[in-house]
Amino acid sequence: MTEEVFLSPKKKGKIAVFISGRGSNFRAIHDSILAGKMNCEIALVFSNKEDAPGLKTAQDRDLETLFLDPKAYSSREDYEKEIIKELRKRDVDLICLAGYMKILGPSLCREFKNAIINIHPALLPSFPGLHVQKKAIDWGVRYSGATVHFVSEDVDMGPIIVQEVVPVIQDDTEETLSDRILKEEHKIYSEAVRLYFNGRLEVRGRRVYIK
Ligand code: GRF
Repeated sequence: MTEEVFLSPKKKGKIAVFISGRGSNFRAIHDSILAGKMNCEIALVFSNKEDAPGLKTAQDRDLETLFLDPKAYSSREDYEKEIIKELRKRDVDLICLAGYMKILGPSLCREFKNAIINIHPALLPSFPGLHVQKKAIDWGVRYSGATVHFVSEDVDMGPIIVQEVVPVIQDDTEETLSDRILKEEHKIYSEAVRLYFNGRLEVRGRRVYIK
């Protein structure tokens, strides 16, 4: 069997950032764009939560926002169909999940194969899921960190693009460790998006090669 190879596009891309909360990663990506460091623009900031503070930030920055209420749809598939329509309308090339607290279904994952990435506040595959900074402290690991990865149908399991290590200090609380990890998240998320639209990511199976 020949191995499937994906090479990220070298183009001025359009991204949709998906958020459910404060949106600091979204802000960091937008700041990098404004600083002229990225080959892309934000075409949409999308949320499943009407009151996500990040939506207000996006509006203040004159970015287009969209809220769709999952409860208004009879199934996840219908909800995602609508999302896909909205994304296609805006020619979105890449979805950046940034604190988006809803698990994606197969329809969205398949439609945007190799075109959805996520940031996770731990060194995957250790500590997938939620409240992972606390889990890292409770487990007693000396190092945690942040991971940007492609999204596959298995939650937090897609091919890893970039990681950054953050030491766990003896007196760390969930809050202090989260804050330290978040600073690194802001750096590596922009870096991953930059690599993506510079045509530098090659995915072969589980491995992502940076060209
Ligand atoms: C981040 O820690 C991210 O890794 C996780 O959710 C948090 C979102 O924070 N997936 P923000 O909304 O980007 O500030």
